[in-house]
Amino acid sequence: MARGNRGKNIVPPPQHEAVLLVDGLKTRFDTRLGAVEAISGVTFRIDEGETVALVGESGSGKSVTALSILQLLESTGQIVDGSILFNGTDLTALSEREMRNVRGKDISMIFQDPATCLDPVYTVENQLVEAITIHGTIDKGAAKERALELLRMVKMPDPESRLGSYQHQLSGGQRQRVMIAMALALSPRLVIADEPTTALDVTVQAQILDLLRLLQDETGTAILFVTHDLGVVAEIAERVVVMYAGNVVEQGTVRQVLKEPQHPYTEALLSSMPGTVAGSGDRLTPIEGVVPSLFDMPEGCRFAPRCAHAVERCSEAQPDLFELSERRYSRCWLREPEPAYGALR
Ligand SMILES: Nc1ncnc2c1ncn2[C@@H]1O[C@H](COP(=O)(O)OP(=O)(O)O)[C@@H](O)[C@H]1O
Ligand SMILES: [Mg+2]
Repeated sequence: MARGNRGKNIVPPPQHEAVLLVDGLKTRFDTRLGAVEAISGVTFRIDEGETVALVGESGSGKSVTALSILQLLESTGQIVDGSILFNGTDLTALSEREMRNVRGKDISMIFQDPATCLDPVYTVENQLVEAITIHGTIDKGAAKERALELLRMVKMPDPESRLGSYQHQLSGGQRQRVMIAMALALSPRLVIADEPTTALDVTVQAQILDLLRLLQDETGTAILFVTHDLGVVAEIAERVVVMYAGNVVEQGTVRQVLKEPQHPYTEALLSSMPGTVAGSGDRLTPIEGVVPSLFDMPEGCRFAPRCAHAVERCSEAQPDLFELSERRYSRCWLREPEPAYGALR
């Protein structure tokens, strides 16, 4: 299947209903030191009701990807190439006004630190009602009822009295529950959760992961779950997209990626992790070297300088995201599929 597509970043025709198709996405920032390409060549797909984990070390471009999808980049940032198809509509072609209609209603976002998103001078009720009525289709009385219903849905303890609370009166886990309630207020088709549990302690983290799983079963919303922690991926996602230095380097089901990684970076990430097959016990090996600077990207494969398997070709040209089998991808020269017999090249 990959053969005809060799050499191109092509997303295969959808077998299931795709909610989101990101293809060849590039985002650039203007900085004092010149323009930098924070992500270049981000390609992945999310199906209806599916949870996809976007994984990679800090700085690999996960948040820039998430913010690009919703066009919430700061003013120095700009999408310069690629497409983002949501239900068949290219979000990159929409005006800011049209994007405002998409945000919250069709796609919503949960951030790592709820304290920066919740307004300290408004109560939980005020903020939920605001989220519910923002597109103006529901009256205040019904919105208040819906606010309570949402708090129950996210298993907020004592929801009636929590409606009157301010953010400083809530624990970290409770704040994150409010954020999740706000994100679900308008029953979006897709929720983007950017490290929603990273700021929480381990017990609360597990509770929030449980909650997200439960809510997904109930609501059928698709989730893009962004995390630097490969350890939580198996808990939450069906599919994994691995990023390195602004590129997607591998994609597959959780089982495929964790059990049979097809990119040396994923392999290295797994062996640097406690409690995995590759990284069990005292055989924990940190990845040597550092992530390349955006100002000094290697010409070939971006992982080549740190890769134990690199051959000459790896430092000469960047590999494409090769399709190995259906929805299974690797951006590694060592995984390049054989050309088809008889192909004219
Ligand atoms: N506003 C910005 N201006 C310049 N560079 C940025 C900006 N935001 C992010 N970057 C750069 O883009 C890269 C990816 O960042 P980010 O997406 O936040 O990483 P992650 O979320 O995976 O930790 C990093 O090298 C970061 O320094
Ligand atoms: Mg981030």
